[in-house]
Amino acid sequence: MITWGCQMNVYDSGRMADVLAPLGYAPTGTPDDADMIILNTCHIRDKATEKVFSELGRLRQIKEARAEAGHRTILAVAGCVAQAEGAEILARAPYVDIVLGPQTYHRLPEMVARASRAAGAVIETDFPVEDKFDHLPEASAPQGLTAFLTIQEGCDKFCSFCVVPYTRGAESSRPEAAVLSEAHRLVAQGTREITLLGQNVNAWHGLDGTGKPSTLGRLARALARIEGLDRIRYTTSHPRDMDDDLIAAHAEEPALMPFLHLPVQSGSNRILAAMNRRHTAEDYLRLVDRLRAARPDMALSSDFIVGHPGETEADFQDTLTLIRTVGFTGAFSFKYSPRPGTAAAGAPNQIDEDTKDRRLQELQSLLRDQQAAFNESKVGQTVDVLFTHPGRRDGQIGGRTPWLQPVHVPGPQSLIGQIMPVRIAHAQPASLSGTLPESPDDPIAATLELEIAVA
Ligand code: 5AD
Ligand code: SF4
Repeated sequence: MITWGCQMNVYDSGRMADVLAPLGYAPTGTPDDADMIILNTCHIRDKATEKVFSELGRLRQIKEARAEAGHRTILAVAGCVAQAEGAEILARAPYVDIVLGPQTYHRLPEMVARASRAAGAVIETDFPVEDKFDHLPEASAPQGLTAFLTIQEGCDKFCSFCVVPYTRGAESSRPEAAVLSEAHRLVAQGTREITLLGQNVNAWHGLDGTGKPSTLGRLARALARIEGLDRIRYTTSHPRDMDDDLIAAHAEEPALMPFLHLPVQSGSNRILAAMNRRHTAEDYLRLVDRLRAARPDMALSSDFIVGHPGETEADFQDTLTLIRTVGFTGAFSFKYSPRPGTAAAGAPNQIDEDTKDRRLQELQSLLRDQQAAFNESKVGQTVDVLFTHPGRRDGQIGGRTPWLQPVHVPGPQSLIGQIMPVRIAHAQPASLSGTLPESPDDPIAATLELEIAVA
């Protein structure tokens, strides 16, 4: 399984592994000994299709070398490029056996059976009437201390630049009971932090026990009642769908982490309108104020696009102003890249590459400064860290703060899986380091010991 793109693709790759496990397939480290290779692709930006074809060229050689040694290799292309460019893939890469869109993963075993028998390739890129989640197996392989859980897929917003409504289809939500039972299963397998996933996650409206559409605020409260589930996150949210109850849940539920990825894309009302975002810069700022009123330590990250068709220097300055006003703790920023079939792709007023490059650099430099300042602000504080892995150096362990900052401390491996307070001593641009308060490396603990010894 080779996975590109967003966290939902990571989750989907796990589910494809689940669906294939009963057939005897298990993940392998290298494509050279794989009986089946699945390329899970992303179509959001740039020359996605070309990247797929160059990877397929490499995989073709592996497939041929294995064939010479008498082994069959099934080559499958999944994900959003498969959805958007399925026919082109089969025309240009006839050695591909299966092309499957994101809504058809539950049919993978049947496709594998057909591909094993058939001479030609199998293509499944319809949006089937049945819900794939009803047909994916319940038992999933343990994901570990932190896990993803897809609760919503697709998008009805049709932002001018975005392929998601075309590749992932219309918005749909998994029912509350299905989400809760998957969450219980993950926690029973050792998960302590769950990130709920959806292209428009806060538009979740899964049916509750009475058959009525629920809301993410209610779902978050129900998840917070699960014993052993200490941290809940959700991504990606749309500003329009951030309702009062969800904001209130942030004030009331400590398990809801004080960090939100809330893309604004631009700070110019003219460009926001051209993007069909359906909110203004002022709407966004008011929303940030409400979130911070509910949870004063709320940190925000965002996505930004520079060089959307029609973006003037003044529009770009408005984006920088919004960034300065909000103070983001992290962000993903991109040069606008025209996507076939989207509204903005054919717009006449495209921006030249040099201008996009310059604006991106200026924006990223501001965002980097903000991230560094946020990390610096934690120095001297004691913050909770969920330890998830051994550190790179011997005797170190690593984990994350509530705001998703990576942290390393000297400490025993036995603490992996636990949430411990850490005194932050140093901030690097993208991570923190510190000490466990009771450890002798901690200057204050050391002084205390000395005082006790003197007394
Ligand atoms: N060009 C550049 N960035 C894009 N994104 C989505 N479509 C495009 C595009 N055509 C960015 C948006 C979105 C993130 C996932 O990718 O910022 O929030
Ligand atoms: Fe794309 Fe806009 Fe939907 Fe986000 S809200 S997935 S950017 S169309």
